[in-house]
Amino acid sequence: MMAEHIDKTRLNNDIRYRFDFISKLIDFSQDDVTRLNSLAPIITPLLPVVIDSVYKKLFAFDTTKRYFQVRNDGFEMFTPNKELGITLDIVQTEFRKDMLSVYLKSILTQREWNDSFLEYLSRVGQIHTNKGGSASINVDYIYMNALFCFLEQLLSDIVWNSEGLQYNDKREGMRAISKFVWIQNDLLTMHFSSTWNSGSTCQSIPIAKLTKCLFI
Ligand code: HEM
Repeated sequence: MMAEHIDKTRLNNDIRYRFDFISKLIDFSQDDVTRLNSLAPIITPLLPVVIDSVYKKLFAFDTTKRYFQVRNDGFEMFTPNKELGITLDIVQTEFRKDMLSVYLKSILTQREWNDSFLEYLSRVGQIHTNKGGSASINVDYIYMNALFCFLEQLLSDIVWNSEGLQYNDKREGMRAISKFVWIQNDLLTMHFSSTWNSGSTCQSIPIAKLTKCLFI
């Protein structure tokens, strides 16, 4: 079999090329996207539970909790009110829970993983490094890696336990979720790596700064 040539420079400069390569390697196709779309009505009602579990985990350890005590973009003017129980971490966490919900919904409802969607996924990855979002946020990869696993299991469990799905739909649904997680993982790790040319990332995708905290 002839080996397909892969241009290493493009892998590190062109997000579409990189995504297409990974997709071929892990057999991620439009079928998986459609699969994720078909899971939306099953998973979406349970997203609040998923998000609560994620945050319970992140708050269970001081090493992960501390990221939520750092002041982020958009929260500069925030004044805590201890008597009312309005502290920076509580307010920021509520804001991030919403962002996580928007993110997971978009994964489930996006019908075409076009360039701007890839840029969005890349921005979500980048925001956790010191290259995007608040300069102070630089989540160590050890936590990201573990959380991807935890998130994958939460989503897969919903599919596995769903009563409305045939055995094969469950299997394919869980595979599509797994592939999405590993794609997102790549679109995160490339920002940690020095080989990715971050200058080529589209800066026109606004994230984090687009909403002001309602409590301010
Ligand atoms: C499964 C892995 C993860 C996913 C899918 C994820 C997803 C997200 C999303 C969608 C946002 C909001 C981006 C926006 O503003 O639109 C965000 C922000 C954030 N995440 Fe994560 N996250 C993950 C893991 C983690 C971990 C492990 C931590 C810390 C221990 C963390 C800490 C943060 C912080 C501090 C922000 C706010 C960044 C800022 O506002 O500048 N995340 N994340």
